Amino acid sequence: MDTTVLRNRFRQQFGTSGDLYFSPGRINLIGEHTDYNGGFVFPGAVDKGIAVEIYRNGSRKVSLLALDQKDAPYVEFSLDDTDKPEQHWACYIFGVCKELEKRGVTLGGFNAAFTGDVPLGAGMSSSAALESAFAFALNTMFADGQVDKFELAKIGQATEHNYCGVKCGIMDQFASVFGREGCLIRLDCRSLEYEYFPFDPQGYKLVLVNSMVKHSLGNEYNERRESCEKAVALMNAQFGRVEALRDANYEMLDAVKKDLSEQDYRRARYVLDEKERVLAVCDALQAGDYELVGRKMYETHWGLSRDYTVSCPELDFLVETAQDCGVTGSRVMGGGFGGCTINLVRETVCDKFISKAKREYARKFSIIPEIYQVVIGDGSRKLQ
Ligand code: GLA
Repeated sequence: MDTTVLRNRFRQQFGTSGDLYFSPGRINLIGEHTDYNGGFVFPGAVDKGIAVEIYRNGSRKVSLLALDQKDAPYVEFSLDDTDKPEQHWACYIFGVCKELEKRGVTLGGFNAAFTGDVPLGAGMSSSAALESAFAFALNTMFADGQVDKFELAKIGQATEHNYCGVKCGIMDQFASVFGREGCLIRLDCRSLEYEYFPFDPQGYKLVLVNSMVKHSLGNEYNERRESCEKAVALMNAQFGRVEALRDANYEMLDAVKKDLSEQDYRRARYVLDEKERVLAVCDALQAGDYELVGRKMYETHWGLSRDYTVSCPELDFLVETAQDCGVTGSRVMGGGFGGCTINLVRETVCDKFISKAKREYARKFSIIPEIYQVVIGDGSRKLQ
C-alpha cells in the first residue's frame, strides 16, 4: 500500500513524522456465522487494509485524523474520558484504548492518522483492520509488544461489542492479526486452535464482486446471534452440555423445534448445516477437489439467503449470474446484508464471468460492481 499521502498529511497536521503500521482486511472461504456459535471458519488476510501513522505526544490526549472521512475527519479525546466520542469511526480507536488499558497496558497520548484501501462496508472487515492496526501499534509502542496476538484479536472483538454495538465473533480480528501470505487459516473459534492452509488452487482464482450495497452490521446481525442463543438455551435445558450450536445436532434441534419460532429454527439449522459444510470443505481442500469446495459455497449462499436471511436481491443476483457462467463456487461473504460475493472461478471462465457480472448487474440495478482479485497477504505488522 502506498503510504506517501498518509505521510504527507501526517506531517502537515502534526509537524512530525511517526511510525507506520498496517493491518489487513480478510476474506472467508467458508464457515459463515459459525464463529460466535463456537464453530470453524476458513478466513485469510488480504493485501488490502488500513495503514496508521502514529507518534507519542507525551500528554493524555489522543488526536486522530481519518484521511478517508469526509465528515469530521479530525477528532480528539482524552485517555481519561469515560464517554466514547460522538463520531462512530473514532469509537473503534477509543474502544481499543480502553480494552488495552483493561488488560493492564498503561497508554500515553498519541497523534495518529490513518487511511485504507480496503473498501468500507464491503464485508471485507475494514473495521477489524482498523482495530487490529491500532491494537498492534499501541501494544508495540506502549507495552513492548507484550500483549499476545490472541489477546490483540480479542481486544478488537471486545471493541465491537462494547463500543460499536456489534456482537461479532472472533473471525475478522483473528484473520487480520494472524494472516499469512498465501495461506488460509482454519480456525476453531472455540479453542482458538488454528492451522495455516497454503491455498494456491491451480487453474482457479478467487474473485470478489462488490454489490456496492453498503452493509453495516448492527441490530440485524445481533438478532441472528440471538436466534442461535435461543435454540442453544432450549437444547441445553433439555439435553445439558449445549453451550453453543457447535455442541448440538439435528436430533436435538428437532426435539426443541416446537418451542422455537420457524425463523429461529431455520437459522439454527443453517448453522448446523454450515458446520458440516466446513468439515467437507477441509477434506475437499486436502484432496484438491475444488469443484466440491465450490458446490459447498453455493449451498452456503442459499442457506444464508433462505434460512439465515442475511442476503439481499443484489447478492442473490450476483450468485445466480455466477452460476449461469459456470463459476465453481459463489456466495455472500462475511456478515451479509450487502457487501461482496466471493467466487471460486476456473481461470478459463474468469473473463466471461467478470464481464457478464458487470454488464448484467448494471442493467438490473444501475450500479457497476467493483471486482477484486484476491491476493492473500500477511497479518498486522510494522511497516518500517
Ligand atoms: C462479521 C462478523 C464475524 C462473523 C461474520 C459472519 O464479519 O464480524 O465475526 O460472524 O460476520 O461469518
